[in-house]
Amino acid sequence: MAGQIPQRFIDDLLARVDVVEVVGERVQLKKSGRNHSGLCPFHQEKSPSFTVSQDKQFYHCFGCGAHGNALRFLMEYDNLRFPEAVEQLAARQGMEVPREGADDPRAQAREKKRKQGVNLLELAASFFRERMKMPEGQAARGYLERRGLSPQVVEEYGIGFAPNDWEALKRHLGEQGISEAVQVEYGLLVHREESGRTYDRFRDRVMFPIRDVKGNTIAFGGRVLGDAKPKYLNSPETPVFHKGRELYGLFEARQAHRQLERVLIVEGYMDVVALAQFGIRNAVATLGTSTSEDHLTRLFRMVDEVVFCFDGDRAGRQAATRALETVLPMMIDGRQARFLFLPEGEDPDTLVRNEGAEGFQDRVICASPLSEFLFDQAAAGRDLARIEERERYASQVLKALARLPEGVLKSLLLSELAKRTGVEQARFEALLATPEPPAEQVLAAVEPHEARYRESPAVSRGALSLAARALQLLVHEPGLVERLPEGDDWCPEGDPDGALCREVIALVRAGGYRSAQVLLAHFHGSQEGERLAALAHRELLIPRANRGAELDGLVAYFQRNRQQPTRQQEIDALLGRKRQGETLTAEERRRLMTLLAEAEK
Ligand code: GTP
Ligand code: MN
Repeated sequence: MAGQIPQRFIDDLLARVDVVEVVGERVQLKKSGRNHSGLCPFHQEKSPSFTVSQDKQFYHCFGCGAHGNALRFLMEYDNLRFPEAVEQLAARQGMEVPREGADDPRAQAREKKRKQGVNLLELAASFFRERMKMPEGQAARGYLERRGLSPQVVEEYGIGFAPNDWEALKRHLGEQGISEAVQVEYGLLVHREESGRTYDRFRDRVMFPIRDVKGNTIAFGGRVLGDAKPKYLNSPETPVFHKGRELYGLFEARQAHRQLERVLIVEGYMDVVALAQFGIRNAVATLGTSTSEDHLTRLFRMVDEVVFCFDGDRAGRQAATRALETVLPMMIDGRQARFLFLPEGEDPDTLVRNEGAEGFQDRVICASPLSEFLFDQAAAGRDLARIEERERYASQVLKALARLPEGVLKSLLLSELAKRTGVEQARFEALLATPEPPAEQVLAAVEPHEARYRESPAVSRGALSLAARALQLLVHEPGLVERLPEGDDWCPEGDPDGALCREVIALVRAGGYRSAQVLLAHFHGSQEGERLAALAHRELLIPRANRGAELDGLVAYFQRNRQQPTRQQEIDALLGRKRQGETLTAEERRRLMTLLAEAEK
């Protein structure tokens, strides 16, 4: 029956698969440095000693010594024999396993065709690039120039031009001995059933090659030069191209960075290349689909942070909601997802041209963390002073939390939800433990706590000082200065963040600024700038609607404190003067004694 599997096929197969991907489908891996680590699936352990190396393409467990490549992993994990493991790996690559001496002409033919396929797409890509350089490519060159792309970026992304001709590519590939059937199968030729005629799919379009992570061209996106429809034409699904899995620009982003840390997910080809033109080389685009679990699984194997960019309109918010749903189950510790909303009518392409690379990067820095977006979204359009509304709010957040893996983020969000609703965290934890918390239960949990919610301590949250919290609010939303009392003498003294608060307020008042970007740009390059950027980047776990009230609370607190220094502050002040050799008045000495006596209690 089946003969030996040729060694060169196994080598070829191993060169195509990524051990991180194979292992990652079965073991939850987290990137650490150049490697990935997780809990070893081959022995019981509580802390991860299992690592997978992308460079070396093997896994190793420091605990039990398990070690091997992707094939070995499948054999051990899925309990397969060698040929079965090869079959399984080959199947996911769309490869047919050849057998030495086996006379299966069908399989051989198929494998030959696949090789031809990859080869043919490379041929097509270079054909398009060549055509762009010829006189007929002049309009396309002009178009790209008008859109602000330099020849370097055009080359880096391998952008080309499909001539305005029904058979240009077909003729070219035909001359290389490539059959029409294969060209049809790989989406380059269209076959009309009725007439039996075949013609080039891409005509008179700027051609963006879509590459897999290894740099092989696997498909194309073509854009019209004018306003014709459809604006973009993509390759159909083929044996090597699955739209819902691939990301445009991922290969190029990895080429540009030795260690890619964060990826921006944008909508369009043009957004990716325009950002690259401005030196922002970590953007990728989904190919006309929303971001899928497959996309994110891939990305999180390479980076710890993804930033979704959305249009600021309704469609953008809907897309963000979908992205949130998709990303929630993947948020294991150490991963970050953030949400960037662009002003209406802009996309990353237009925005980076208007605001420059720094302006755009500042927006990325200010993008909402997942937690903020989650709370914002649940609070949107709700009057949280009303019990029923708060119940819906809590139940929406809980529903999202139920989808999060256990970890720091989940506990952080739970305690935040408890604070915001004034409900004990334990009650939410109990609700989460039941599969679908029924609305009445949530309501019952929320109801008796209304009073507490109203006076929930707005000023004692997290590790930031109070001055820093005020500053953070102002950085995220400079427009809030409008509600501040006149002057700035409420700003806490003796705290650098308090001093910076004054500066920020003065600047925002003078300039009438409303955007964090302008603020960050103003302080850019200084120590203050770094402080502000750090605060901008930090999670702001307060829904937009409540930020004004939060700031009011802080200011009121500062003002109270100013008028009535705390006992300790008063003691410190009096003792300080005494130590510096000042003589206190009799009245002051009595006061100090009283204070110290009180402090003893
Ligand atoms: P420019 O107009 O060139 O700036 O393109 P854009 O990237 O801003 O395009 P747009 O925001 O209109 O669309 C975003 C993405 O959706 C594109 O990059 C395509 O992947 C996809 N897309 C847009 N229009 C079409 C279309 O007509 N057909 C298909 N299949 N996909 C499209
Ligand atoms: Mn655009």
